[in-house]
Amino acid sequence: MEKLNIGIILGSTRQGRLSPQVGEWVKQIADERGDAHYQIVDIADYHLPLLGEADATEQATAWNTKLAELDGFVFIVQEYNHSISASLKNALDYAREAWNNKAAGIVSYGSVGGARAAEHLRGILGELSVADVRVHPALSLFTDFENGSVFKPADLHLVNVNGMLDQVVAWSGALKTLRVPAAAL
Ligand SMILES: Cc1cc2nc3c(=O)[nH]c(=O)nc-3n(C[C@H](O)[C@H](O)[C@H](O)COP(=O)(O)O)c2cc1C
Repeated sequence: MEKLNIGIILGSTRQGRLSPQVGEWVKQIADERGDAHYQIVDIADYHLPLLGEADATEQATAWNTKLAELDGFVFIVQEYNHSISASLKNALDYAREAWNNKAAGIVSYGSVGGARAAEHLRGILGELSVADVRVHPALSLFTDFENGSVFKPADLHLVNVNGMLDQVVAWSGALKTLRVPAAAL
């Protein structure tokens, strides 16, 4: 089987956001494993208006094309009012089949590790037929970011990131067999 394509999706788009630092950290750990092709997927690059508010055929096509290339996902999730950001929810709503029968891991951050946002995301992923894995690195805004802005993750998270990636890669490979004829795997 060819190496899988795993997208590390940055869930926030606001100016000054922390998600690029967290996404790059996950990508660095992932790349050292060499077990899949990992890439950062930045929602901000797709300039998606709120779903239905404007003609966004071009943006929606680009977004769906990118998701269709991917076999699995790692969502970089930040907690906004005990849930996920509006921009991540909007991006999730912009696709359907391109999400289906794929696996995902969640890396979250917030005052309590982004746990409430991560649990909300799991409910949404169920509706999109995305299999979210159990291992979930949860980062604290107080202890993993200096002054709440410079990302300095505690060493203990490394084990969890690798545990999460182990599951994402295994499940992404298994689910690919549902989408791709055996001869093409
Ligand atoms: C509108 C808004 C609501 C927030 N609500 C919460 C919250 O409910 N719980 C929490 O732990 N952090 C909350 N935060 C703090 C964010 O988790 C923190 O600012 C984080 O850095 C946001 O991710 P980003 O920097 O990638 O945008 C909130 C931040 C914003 C902007």
